[in-house]
Amino acid sequence: DSVVFSGIQPTGVPHIGNYFGALRQWKLMQDAAPPGAKLFFCIVDWHAITMPQDAHILMQKKKEMFAAIMAIGLDPERSTIFYQSEVAAHTELMWILSCTASMGYLNRMTQWKSKMHLSDDAEGLDNDVAQKLKLGLFSYPVLQAADILVHRATHVPVGEDQKQHLEFSRECVTNFNHTYNTECLVSPRTITTPSPRIMSLKHPNRKMSKSSPVEASRIDITSTKKEIRQRINAAVTDSLNKVTYDPVNRPGVANLLSILSQCSNASFNTSNISSSSASPATTMTTTPEALAAHLSGTSLKDLKELTADALVRELKDVEGAYHEALALKGGKYIQELQALGAEKARESAEDTMRLVREAVGLGGPV
Ligand code: TYM
Repeated sequence: DSVVFSGIQPTGVPHIGNYFGALRQWKLMQDAAPPGAKLFFCIVDWHAITMPQDAHILMQKKKEMFAAIMAIGLDPERSTIFYQSEVAAHTELMWILSCTASMGYLNRMTQWKSKMHLSDDAEGLDNDVAQKLKLGLFSYPVLQAADILVHRATHVPVGEDQKQHLEFSRECVTNFNHTYNTECLVSPRTITTPSPRIMSLKHPNRKMSKSSPVEASRIDITSTKKEIRQRINAAVTDSLNKVTYDPVNRPGVANLLSILSQCSNASFNTSNISSSSASPATTMTTTPEALAAHLSGTSLKDLKELTADALVRELKDVEGAYHEALALKGGKYIQELQALGAEKARESAEDTMRLVREAVGLGGPV
């Protein structure tokens, strides 16, 4: 049977980029999954500490992310939602995988290079950079591979930027199974979200991001109707008062069209999670291009209004559900749910670890 796994960093309340790029996909997969499929969604706090964090704020952000995941309709009865650091087997498997993973492969990964502001073609590290580079950031992909492999996930829904990490996870499977002459780890498939990158509302050449200090550059999924309208109205566009889809020359307008198109499409990458054969991907019903053609006679003011209306409709229940999730059971609801999720995740991980330990010669009777 299929096992779906995905992870997200605890960045607090997600913005619409996280939502269209990942969270909505999780919800759609949950709703489409056949009864036998298992689903795991993990808030990756161990990954978060590869960058400096304030302890108190990190705790708060984990809880906000959990509540937001609940608020968009993930069902804790159907999906196992948990904090990574509650399931020690993720790091146990990470260590074991580290012993068969290649440094050379990790060295070519782009994500830590970009964090270190190295260019993609930089070969090695000079001493200064190596001092600043933390081992955890370098081995980040090994932990991500362990997250996936410890649940023997078959399907991993992620945005484009995670593709390289998923390839590395498959590489870890090959290395491990080959070294220990076993088949106990399973190669996961990447299910890419058919969402274009949602860009900043103020600098539409950059992606919408939690780390931008400009609050008006993003829309959180728990925003009120009024906030959504204000932010869309204040989005940077250009002085050509008509609608065309031209991401290079008119990135602001293109971004509005992307958002509008996302709201019009409840479709997703339909790679059938109950079959193992490769199936055709993406079915986008209303592309930004098609919308632009349809709206060619429309003013930018009207485009903004349409986009705001669509977004208000898409997110109409989220704010209320979010605050309810945080308030339920005198504020203890999330704490209870996370404990339940962690328990289920520990069971699933333990099933795999028994096989892994045996294959390696760890644990078990001599
Ligand atoms: P993270 O937390 O950066 O992002 C979570 C998911 O959201 C997608 N995403 C976006 N998609 C479209 N537009 C955007 N502006 C945008 N921003 C983020 C990402 O592609 C991702 O799918 N390393 C992972 C977390 C992780 C993980 C895992 C994922 C840890 N272990 C195991 C899958 C499986 C990360 O930092 O994602």
